[in-house]
Amino acid sequence: MLAVAVLAAGKGTRMKSDLPKVLQPLAGATLVERVLASCAALAPERRLLIVGHQAERVERSLAAHSGLEFVLQQPQNGTGHAVQQLLQPLAGFTGDLLVLNGDVPLLRPETLELLLERHRQSGAAVTLLSARLEDPSGYGRVVADAAGNVSAIVEHRDCSDEQRQIDLINAGIYCFNWPQLAAVLPQLSSDNDQGELYLTDTVAMLSPAMHLEVADAAEINGINDRLQLSQCEAVLQERLRRHWMTEGVTFIDPASCTLSEGTRFGRDVVVEPQCHFRGSSQIGSGCRIGPGCLIEDSQIGENGRVLHSVLRSATVAADCSVGPFAQLRPGSEVGPECHIGNFVEVKNSTLARGVKVNHLSYIGDADLGERVNVGAGTITANYDGLRKHRTVIGAGSKTGANSVLVAPISLGSNVTVGAGSTLTKDVPSGALALGRAKQLVKENWPGPA
Ligand code: UD1
Ligand code: CA
Repeated sequence: MLAVAVLAAGKGTRMKSDLPKVLQPLAGATLVERVLASCAALAPERRLLIVGHQAERVERSLAAHSGLEFVLQQPQNGTGHAVQQLLQPLAGFTGDLLVLNGDVPLLRPETLELLLERHRQSGAAVTLLSARLEDPSGYGRVVADAAGNVSAIVEHRDCSDEQRQIDLINAGIYCFNWPQLAAVLPQLSSDNDQGELYLTDTVAMLSPAMHLEVADAAEINGINDRLQLSQCEAVLQERLRRHWMTEGVTFIDPASCTLSEGTRFGRDVVVEPQCHFRGSSQIGSGCRIGPGCLIEDSQIGENGRVLHSVLRSATVAADCSVGPFAQLRPGSEVGPECHIGNFVEVKNSTLARGVKVNHLSYIGDADLGERVNVGAGTITANYDGLRKHRTVIGAGSKTGANSVLVAPISLGSNVTVGAGSTLTKDVPSGALALGRAKQLVKENWPGPA
């Protein structure tokens, strides 16, 4: 039997933030979501989340996760005090308790599996993850012998000068035999520099206590401040880029690009410098993205070309080119072989195969048929000040430069709109529509002196 407890009640004072620390985002997911994800593969029987500081907000953020038991710790008197709150909910539980710090978000599931396996093999009362760090400052130091037996953990601020030289640190991830831990939890004292109850003090009260050193110390990076947050982000980004490079994506300047875990790439995608992928996006094989793109929750079909553009909740079919300097806003559905050129904004619109909107246009709440050619500066005037209205343009139609289509309006197929027209009425198929003042020329006008 396995129960997992995540410590997520602390304020995170060192973040200097209104947001509880465990809700700080890292590559699109909060710290606590990441911690929960790291133990999902273990399929624990119980998952307990210890909340305190802004407890409701933390609970709300996890509303989509079912089966979590929230345990309130009030006030927050240290990690030992946090785990004491489990004495009641886990009364009668006889299995192992995996304790995870809510601010250690980069743990790999395999590492937790190994920890649990070692713990069960050795029959230890507690097995904790440790790491050797070049700069161990801030972390609790693990006092252990060569065989891996731990006699104590001493917090950085409680260390003697000699103890401070120890480079083996406590990762804040522990597997306890719960009945044995439950027996010593009430004996914790706050006789330390912070005057708190430390979970780490239980280690000296339990025997045998063992540690397991992680191979990759980056996994156990704890986040106490913004600097560590950015360091963890860098580790995550590096992992994501490496993964996609092994899957056949070229990054011209990897360090300048950021990815989300929800982004998927086909083969032979080339990502130019300064591209950022957020949410769940899909980039088809053979695309060339960038330089300079932000792509969020969007799909791009095969062989697309996107340059210096922003896409949000947009879908672009195969063989399209977008940009430079285009913006596709939510609800943009662009068909195959379309061209969206410079300074073009598209929102909540469908563009059928082969549409060209090459320069300086706004296409909002519109449906454009196949091969429609939108002239430079064409605007769909979709908003009357109260409501949004749709514009429909039939297949093969062509708008002249600087046309304004005042919605609701419908143009048939193969319509030609003269340059500079402002149209307010529907136009039948095959017609030429002109909506502009006739040019007046007065000859022999006395010009400027
Ligand atoms: C803790 C460990 C330290 C270890 C480090 C690893 C203790 C005493 N020290 O130190 O040995 O090297 O993690 O990152 O455990 N929390 C609560 N309730 C509280 C206090 C904290 O739930 O009353 C939660 C926090 O939200 C956080 C986690 O426990 O997620 C760790 O707390 P934090 O104050 O960051 O501990 P560290 O000083 O980093
Ligand atoms: Ca911490």
